[in-house]
Amino acid sequence: MVKPSIIAIDGPAASGKSTLGERLAQRIGYLFFDTGILYRAVTWAALQKLGRVDQEYEVSTLSEKVNIDVRPPSVADGRSADVCIDGVDVTWEIRNSDVDANVSQVSAYPRVRQAMTLQQRRIGQRGGVVMVGRDIGTVVFPEAGLKIYLVASVEERASRRYHEMINRGVAADYNQILAALRKRDEYDSGRKLAPLKPAEDAIVLDSEGLTIEQVVERALALIEKA
Ligand code: CDP
Repeated sequence: MVKPSIIAIDGPAASGKSTLGERLAQRIGYLFFDTGILYRAVTWAALQKLGRVDQEYEVSTLSEKVNIDVRPPSVADGRSADVCIDGVDVTWEIRNSDVDANVSQVSAYPRVRQAMTLQQRRIGQRGGVVMVGRDIGTVVFPEAGLKIYLVASVEERASRRYHEMINRGVAADYNQILAALRKRDEYDSGRKLAPLKPAEDAIVLDSEGLTIEQVVERALALIEKA
């Protein structure tokens, strides 16, 4: 079987893209790359250095300079990768609710997108990669051999994110998570540049009510057909 060299997985917040991407990559021996990490890292750095994210020029300049390093995990605490910014391990910090609340605004800045897209193309161009995000099939790799658009209802996504946080020992409130996801989806779908939407040739995979194993099996079947 000749597998597509690049597999793009896009979809709304907490739709299970990272879990699917990671397992799929493991099963077929591909590199897994979660592009949300880059936007989260820039947002974290902006909050740290500027204390806010509404200064577009400063945030954009920061995104062009900041050194984001994504490496295989060095700690077995459930992480899929080590994320370091200018040498500091921020793997879990970039998942906090402050970053959640500000990342969509940062991701809408054109220069930030340009800088992150360049990095993603550099990582993906050698092939053998499962890349996960919002605009991989539409903008970053429109030539990807397989594009999956993963969806689930916002309630199911909120419930998954809630359990994920509880399992990590982080305090969580279901209704707050639900409201934050709705807001982020709206922002990500409504932005002018690289909005969240399925590519015309993407295959929509609805994970509602399916176990992760079932979703992985369906994706593997799509790879065989691609
Ligand atoms: O894990 P979750 O689905 O909650 O989010 P994520 O994939 O880590 O992405 C965080 C945010 O980064 C999204 O809400 C988007 O605003 C932005 N993002 C983007 O604009 N383009 C991408 N390729 C990936 C993420």
